[in-house]
Amino acid sequence: MKSRSFRRTFLCYLACYFPLPNRLRVALHQLAGVHFENPGKVFVGYGVFIDIYSHDCSVAIGEHCIIGTGTRIYTHYLDGGAIPHTFYEGSVNIGDRVFIGTNTVVAKPVTIGSGAVVAANSLITRDVPSYSVVMGVPARVVAEREIKKGIDVRVKINKQR
Ligand SMILES: CC(C)(COP(=O)(O)OP(=O)(O)OC[C@H]1O[C@@H](n2cnc3c(N)ncnc32)[C@H](O)[C@@H]1OP(=O)(O)O)[C@@H](O)C(=O)NCCC(=O)NCCS
Repeated sequence: MKSRSFRRTFLCYLACYFPLPNRLRVALHQLAGVHFENPGKVFVGYGVFIDIYSHDCSVAIGEHCIIGTGTRIYTHYLDGGAIPHTFYEGSVNIGDRVFIGTNTVVAKPVTIGSGAVVAANSLITRDVPSYSVVMGVPARVVAEREIKKGIDVRVKINKQR
């Protein structure tokens, strides 16, 4: 089991830190255990780290997603109340046509709904509704996308945030 964890972690680091073509980066993540719905239709930027070291956690990514440079997707989390420090594991699900802006951190086991836009530098600690725009630390919904005939015609930004 330990050698499998090592292999997964090694592949994820390789995919993250080597300046590779997108296809190769996606393929290395697949070998590590990330599930891509359609690997040919996902862009994973340079410096993206998908932490999938354990056998009990999973990361699934839908079609037509763009994951910006420097993003971190974690699958082990600190149990805030525990002494000594204890970690628990979880899974992250990312739907179709999700855009994740550069340097986002996914810090909890969440679902990011299809069509969502995550602004650059966001910290994701809760589920992200489909077709919403979230931003900030922690990320909050600031807009809903309206898709008409396959085209994003309007993004309503909530000025009250
Ligand atoms: C989220 C994003 C798509 C919004 O773009 P937009 O719809 O054109 O929105 P605007 O730029 O008009 O900004 C709307 C408001 O959100 C704020 N805002 C935009 N991006 C923000 C971010 N990442 N974090 C916090 N606030 C942000 C703006 O300051 C503005 O606030 P205001 O209304 O108080 O002035 C864009 O800002 C973003 O984060 N893009 C990601 C860029 C990136 O990662 N590129 C690499 C791709 S691989």
